Amino acid sequence: MRKSVKDIIDKKKSGNKISVITAYDYTMASLCDKAGVDILLVGDSAGMVMLGYENTIPVTMEQMILFTEAVSRARQNTLVVADMPFMSYQASISDAIANSGRLIKAGADAIKLEGGRIVTPTIQAIVETGIPVMGHIGFQPQTTTLNQGYRVQAKTKDAAITLIEDAKALEEAGVFSIALEMVTSEVSKIISKSVSVPTIGIGSGSYCDGQVLVVHDVLGMYDKIKPKFVKRYLSLSDQITKAITNYKLDIESGRFPSKENWFSMDKAELDKLREEIDI
Ligand code: KIV
Repeated sequence: MRKSVKDIIDKKKSGNKISVITAYDYTMASLCDKAGVDILLVGDSAGMVMLGYENTIPVTMEQMILFTEAVSRARQNTLVVADMPFMSYQASISDAIANSGRLIKAGADAIKLEGGRIVTPTIQAIVETGIPVMGHIGFQPQTTTLNQGYRVQAKTKDAAITLIEDAKALEEAGVFSIALEMVTSEVSKIISKSVSVPTIGIGSGSYCDGQVLVVHDVLGMYDKIKPKFVKRYLSLSDQITKAITNYKLDIESGRFPSKENWFSMDKAELDKLREEIDI
């Protein structure tokens, strides 16, 4: 049966960890769904790993809708959460409601957006329309890169207090879970104990209620950056390059295609054809 937001919340209550992985296309989403993860996150990291942007800032609603539709068509059991891209929710609450609705119509069960206290009125308004929201604090790729660059969050007492208050404000605004990105393990532990909704960590240690990674990182398919928090389970980029090189060499040498890869006419039909066209 398809997982619901309630199932995700219940996992925290029963002390079971939540598994989340990003997905952006039909084939990969089908495989991840089959593996039994709890949540497929259609992250705006798609901008980097699928579209080749430097960061997530250029990602548009239209692109996120396309990725969300593909992932939703693939999933059988998993909850699908789709990211609101940069500037799809910041300009006005009515924009935020309309755009989150577009992702739900594309097949998502819930949306995720970045920000702490500053976005709580937006979150509240979206939740009031009936759309479940996952918050995202700590390192926020859409804006932190503009201000500070990539860096670990909540390393000082003051930064930790700000983040803990942000998490509580998100819970009060009605989020069903909170992504914590690159937050020190100690502060993730405090946040995970202080809020009733599940925390989903990325680079935030083992005390979070769940973990998320980008699928390309898990499979070793994206070599541009390799954050310390990534655990690679395969080195697919090497394997893929090797396979495609062999394919190219087979074409060049005539080893591909071979008899088992092509189709033939009946001999009688071929003879008739030869008579008629004289070759
Ligand atoms: O876009 C994304 O993939 C994300 C996760 C890394 C949390 O937001």
